[in-house]
Amino acid sequence: MIAAWLLERISIDEATTRQIGATLGRWLQPGDIVAVQGPLGAGKTRFIQGIAEGLGVTEPVQSPSFILVQAYPLPGGRRFYHVDLYRLENPEAVWALGLWDLFDEMAIIAMEWPERAAGLIPEPYLRVTLIPLGDTVRQIRMEAIGSFPLERLKTLQALLGSE
Ligand SMILES: Nc1ncnc2c1ncn2[C@@H]1O[C@H](COP(=O)(O)OP(=O)(O)O)[C@@H](O)[C@H]1O
Ligand SMILES: [Mg+2]
Repeated sequence: MIAAWLLERISIDEATTRQIGATLGRWLQPGDIVAVQGPLGAGKTRFIQGIAEGLGVTEPVQSPSFILVQAYPLPGGRRFYHVDLYRLENPEAVWALGLWDLFDEMAIIAMEWPERAAGLIPEPYLRVTLIPLGDTVRQIRMEAIGSFPLERLKTLQALLGSE
């Protein structure tokens, strides 16, 4: 276990963001949570579409802004949940979404606007921050929040290093 792990990549366009998401998606395991933050239009949904592709989701992944939680079946019987808390009215309302059932289910979860559920996401999880640097340029920062097994982080680093 290590205390802090951080990796940064530069994406020059939408396709690259998606591709980095897909690489991350291939690495994810049941129970993993990815919190994707960044301003509107940064590419959070694009990144999560990449995650879904890497996980083998065949349905098109849309932004679930109006329904907050969208489920997709995964090969092997588990589920992928795309959560978007943008429209969450207050932090307490997060309980009504039943997110805790999803955590218990050993699903794979990617969450937009995790700040709206600040302090409620169980560790360890991966935090991805998309920082717009220009028209189509984004900095993608990936951080382990809480302790992941070191071997898993090394594997992810190797996968992302070969992008
Ligand atoms: N490098 C990039 N990565 C992701 N999206 C990009 C990039 N460059 C331009 N875009 C555009 O930015 C927008 C991102 O939209 P979206 O993923 O819905 O953002 P968010 O979910 O963060 O609000 C899309 O219109 C996409 O085409
Ligand atoms: Mg979005």
